[in-house]
Amino acid sequence: MPRFSVALAAVGLLGLTACSPEYAQKRSAVKHGQLIYAKECSQCHGVSGEGAGSASLGLGTPAPDLVGLSARNDGVFPREFVRRFILGLLETDDPEAAMPQFAKVGLPHVYPQGGADGEVLEADFEDLLDYLASIQE
Ligand code: HEC
Repeated sequence: MPRFSVALAAVGLLGLTACSPEYAQKRSAVKHGQLIYAKECSQCHGVSGEGAGSASLGLGTPAPDLVGLSARNDGVFPREFVRRFILGLLETDDPEAAMPQFAKVGLPHVYPQGGADGEVLEADFEDLLDYLASIQE
């Protein structure tokens, strides 16, 4: 096969992979996670996860950036740590810390009427984690 068609075949294959349902599903999970982030986290952690959003400026501890989670963990996204931190399952030295315990409060800005719990919230938190993993620098 001439080299050109090999390259074309490779491009075709790439295209196929890019459009696979799995890829599309992952992309929509990240998009949904981004929406949740914008509503529940960005006011403190910054629009793009850069930290110190406007709502955190008056806090004792400014909210840290969330794009450097992997960098601060030897290049590996600390998914379990982040999950537990968000849910409020980690022991904290400071019970008055400003970071909400989302297992207790749910996602009040995503579901202002309440009513979402259990599996819905679990899926939402997975999407949020996918989004956070995708913004690591
Ligand atoms: C009211 C402000 C506020 C909101 C809203 C908030 N956070 Fe935080 N967050 C903080 C503060 C302040 C800290 C650091 C102090 C601490 O350890 O509690 C923190 C710490 C964290 C950490 C630990 C980072 C590290 O490097 O140790 C993670 C992860 C995190 N937040 C994720 C989130 C996510 C995801 C959301 C949205 C679902 C969110 N936070 C919403 C204020 C906030």
